[in-house]
Amino acid sequence: MVETIKPSSRDEREKWIREAGYNLFNLRSEQVFIDLLTDSGTGAMSDKQWSAMMLGDESYAGASSYYKMKEAIKDVTGFDHFLPTHQGRAAENVLFSAMIKEGDVVPGNAHFDTTKGHIEYRKASAIDCTINEAFDTSVYHPFKGNVDLNKLETVFKENPREKIPMVVVTITCNTAGGQPVSMENMREVKNLAQKYGVPVIFDSARFAENAYFIKEREEGYENKEIREIVREMFSYADGMTMSSKKDAIVNMGGFIALNDAELFRKASVFNIIFEGFITYGGMSGRDMNALAEGLYEGTEYDYLNTRVSQVAFLGGKLKEFGVPVQEPFGGHAIFVDARKVLPHIPKEQFQAQTLAIELYLEGGVRGVEIGTLLADRDPVTRENRYPALELLRLTVPRRVYTNNHMLYVATALGNVVERRNEIKTGYTIEYEAPIMRHFTVKLNKI
Ligand SMILES: Cc1ncc(COP(=O)(O)O)c(C=O)c1O
Repeated sequence: MVETIKPSSRDEREKWIREAGYNLFNLRSEQVFIDLLTDSGTGAMSDKQWSAMMLGDESYAGASSYYKMKEAIKDVTGFDHFLPTHQGRAAENVLFSAMIKEGDVVPGNAHFDTTKGHIEYRKASAIDCTINEAFDTSVYHPFKGNVDLNKLETVFKENPREKIPMVVVTITCNTAGGQPVSMENMREVKNLAQKYGVPVIFDSARFAENAYFIKEREEGYENKEIREIVREMFSYADGMTMSSKKDAIVNMGGFIALNDAELFRKASVFNIIFEGFITYGGMSGRDMNALAEGLYEGTEYDYLNTRVSQVAFLGGKLKEFGVPVQEPFGGHAIFVDARKVLPHIPKEQFQAQTLAIELYLEGGVRGVEIGTLLADRDPVTRENRYPALELLRLTVPRRVYTNNHMLYVATALGNVVERRNEIKTGYTIEYEAPIMRHFTVKLNKI
């Protein structure tokens, strides 16, 4: 699908962002020239996906589209049981309802915000066990998404087994900068968790990009097919939640996949309450067809190579223009180190959000803050949580933009970095929601 995009003037953008309460989520899409807010649901579907939609079976129960999706999930991931959900956080809601209770602890590698939100909503806590290298943007590590096994074992030792319902491993790790987890790390996490009798769940939104990085960077995998790598990855998990809006290249959809029939039965009850009957769970038949096809297309080497290379093209240009970025480059996005760009703005004034707004003003480019606003307040003290990294994420939609668009983005941000000393102040909060505030926050310019 091809859409037109419309450039705007700086005056227009100043008005629009003020009216949006300095929250980029509040902008209308036509007020954005190049939209790098997210890669979630923003990909362009293929000819094969559109034609698969025409064959959607909209039966309430037992639709052929459900079985098509079931076969594709079994084929690509190896899991026997699956539940469709309308998106990734719905999969978390259903699975966590069956597994997490008040007072639990859930270790993992920099849980995504919705994952953390669903854990904390249940009055449980998410414990970040990511390796330390992930928190220094200038250090090179091929697998910055890895779980630190010592940190993980400390959690296992310090808490009774019944308080640890699962380990969540996010592949690739979005919060740490779209950074992959190595096969060796997945294997070791599984072995350690098994020793303590704790199931491992993969948050799998970008599992195919993770497999691509394993092929490119991990010894012994260079000659393996992406799908072979994916099957081995999932052999180290007891289940997965999936936001299909990423690596299954659909505009809406998600699922849970599991090995354990008993857990599947338990989760099915919540699926019916929250999502719909277990053979559609919030998805229409045509969307399940597109998703099944997308799982295959998303795990093709040539596609992944083109995609990850485009993200790297953006990263390379940004570096050339003096923008400090998380390295190595992530699979779906480039993460800009806002603290390094705007060290003179106090952290209480939201450095990454300030940079995101400046980029919008400069060129109509919409990125997203992955920093203090996103990190929310501590649920107990209600103080701001200042994360180890204050990042501006530039997320590249799948199969949508050309490298010329990427060059425009890099130039615009390069201009902002060049005039950074003219940016004197940041923002204060006028309104915030009690949880996941970044989506609806309203800010005032200081
Ligand atoms: C790693 C990860 N997990 C879960 C989710 C939630 O998925 P959804 O937006 O489909 O609810 C996202 C979405 O961006 C994600 O990046």
